[in-house]
Amino acid sequence: MRNEIKKCYFTVFAALVLASCQPKQEPMAGLIQNRLDRSIEQYLLMAESLKEQSDKLPRTFDAEGKLVTSGSGWWCSGFMPGSLWYLYEYGKSDTLLDDARNYTARIEKEKYNKGTHDLGFMLYCSFGNGYRLTGDTAYRSIMLIGAESLASRFNPGTGCIQSWGSNRNWQFPVIIDNMMNLEFLFWASKVSGNPKYRDICISHADVTMKNHFRPDYSSYHVVSYDTISGQPEKKNTHQGFADESAWSRGQAWGLYGYTVMYRETRDTKYLEQARRIAAFMLNHPNMPADKIPYWDFSAPEIPNALRDVSAGVIMTSALIELSGYVDAALAKTYLDVAETQIRTLSSPEYFAEKGTNGNFILKHSVGSMPHKSEIDVPLTYADYYYIEALLRYQSLK
Ligand code: GLY
Repeated sequence: MRNEIKKCYFTVFAALVLASCQPKQEPMAGLIQNRLDRSIEQYLLMAESLKEQSDKLPRTFDAEGKLVTSGSGWWCSGFMPGSLWYLYEYGKSDTLLDDARNYTARIEKEKYNKGTHDLGFMLYCSFGNGYRLTGDTAYRSIMLIGAESLASRFNPGTGCIQSWGSNRNWQFPVIIDNMMNLEFLFWASKVSGNPKYRDICISHADVTMKNHFRPDYSSYHVVSYDTISGQPEKKNTHQGFADESAWSRGQAWGLYGYTVMYRETRDTKYLEQARRIAAFMLNHPNMPADKIPYWDFSAPEIPNALRDVSAGVIMTSALIELSGYVDAALAKTYLDVAETQIRTLSSPEYFAEKGTNGNFILKHSVGSMPHKSEIDVPLTYADYYYIEALLRYQSLK
């Protein structure tokens, strides 16, 4: 008996010694504040670097150490202005406000662009955040024109918004990413009072739910529809490893998109869809312990495959929102993953030192592996959803 008591004391003692040797984790509140402050420093440098080139927006930083820019028509043009708005929301400085206004104005002409489905990314992240924070009615008018341009791509025969133009391969391609442009149309219905935009969102989300997802709730990247029958004609990938693989950013777009669908409609079928997508990602045997996905869940180089930070942060932001719609146990699961992702991305491996990385915040994203484009580089949308995730985590009760 005495020996057993001794053994028990020893076990407790050993556990206490072990616990005291573990490095103490920085509290999340301080970590987030520090990374937001450092993000402001970095984005002020970024804004300064393109001040004189009034038609340019940052896109990435290449292997030769050169800042790559884009015009306003590139699908990512709204993210850097959107990040400036988020940082202004946090930091409230006049310089950030001026920069956010300046870079947002560079995109205005895209309100007439009927050749892309990406107007949500381009206009809602930029003008949308600007309108939310300033109430500027000029922004509102620009966005309503933009929403009409986006709605023009809806086809009642397929029930979907067309993502890309038709080509030799695809009659009517719809990509899972398109789910991200619906939030803009929900906004347009609320502001204009016209239910048309909201109806388009519901139709697009329902048809996508039916045709893009596999039984395990992973999704195809591209579903092309036959324009006569309105039925799917092909299911392919464009940026993933294979038609039947799960391209990581696509899974993250779907997770975020159906979380928004639930927020906007309160229809539980969308909540269920978001939960199932989250389960696919979180329980996948190829999800690394630090929760930053490889660029594709079936990338052949795993475990040496590149990570895609952009997929990670889109997921983080979506999981934080989704945690508000589920029971306490599941909410804890989601928030634990989000915390791990934020801690991972806030480490020197991923978070750039001031003035490095072309003044982008995060390193290590993948644009399109099959096209050998933007491999292991910073990207504006990774920064945007990282800042969004930090702000969302910070506002948790
Ligand atoms: N929407 C394009 C991409 O995610 O790369």
